[in-house]
Amino acid sequence: MSDSRRTVALVTGGNRGIGHEVCRQLAGLGHTVLLAARSAEAAEKAAADIGPDTYPVQLDVTSAQDMERVADEVKRRFGRLDALVNNAAITYDTWQRAADADLSVVREAAETNLYGPWRLTQTLLPLLRASPRGRVVNVSSGVASLADMGTAPPAYATTKVALNALTRMLAAELRADGILVNSVCPGWVATDMGGAGGRPVAEGAAGVVWAATLPGGGPTGGFFRDGVRVEW
Ligand SMILES: NC(=O)c1ccc[n+]([C@@H]2O[C@H](COP(=O)([O-])OP(=O)(O)OC[C@H]3O[C@@H](n4cnc5c(N)ncnc54)[C@H](OP(=O)(O)O)[C@@H]3O)[C@@H](O)[C@H]2O)c1
Repeated sequence: MSDSRRTVALVTGGNRGIGHEVCRQLAGLGHTVLLAARSAEAAEKAAADIGPDTYPVQLDVTSAQDMERVADEVKRRFGRLDALVNNAAITYDTWQRAADADLSVVREAAETNLYGPWRLTQTLLPLLRASPRGRVVNVSSGVASLADMGTAPPAYATTKVALNALTRMLAAELRADGILVNSVCPGWVATDMGGAGGRPVAEGAAGVVWAATLPGGGPTGGFFRDGVRVEW
């Protein structure tokens, strides 16, 4: 745990789906992984499932208090954070349309999908700045691509569009610090959110891991799927 050569990555929503597989792949590449989940029990179980050098962290991305505690813990244990993967998300609201969407559902989705990653990045920024290779990955969705947007799940799509805007702004602001910030669409993946028929979770996670492990001088402020640029 104290090996300073190992890069330290924190993944939100790491207990299941794409987040869990991102943790597994990062651990396989030799990273120290902080597997964050809103349930402490789920974090422990999921981290144990991956193995040593994967540590459970209780973190609800709607809780500023959790974030402060996690930042303190990461500072104390590692003194820096090399990669932050903002993966946790909710509300793929295919059941509603923008014209009559329940805005309380949109607001609730924004707490997790937008304000969560935003505040967490702010809170962990001193630790990312302490890293010689800070990376932030905002897990987004092709559904948020404005280029060909028509009807879309309104809470989900608008919160991911806003997340993409956050990616652009943070990338510009943090470029001078050497912190690379990118949005990644994992593609349609067979998870609880994606449902049956999507591609294997390992394939969706690989594009996220790619962005979390970009070499110095790599792209920043981009939107990628499988390491290939997609239109905003
Ligand atoms: N699956 C797809 O086809 C697809 C396509 C495009 C983009 N994505 C994106 O990929 C990412 C992962 O999706 P997925 O398919 O793996 O979803 P998933 O299977 O539904 O998993 C979502 C994860 O987010 C966590 N989460 C939700 N609210 C949270 C909160 N307040 N605090 C902390 N964790 C929270 C969940 O934890 P709990 O277990 O506690 O609920 C769970 O670990 C999301 O950003 C999603 O928008 C997915």
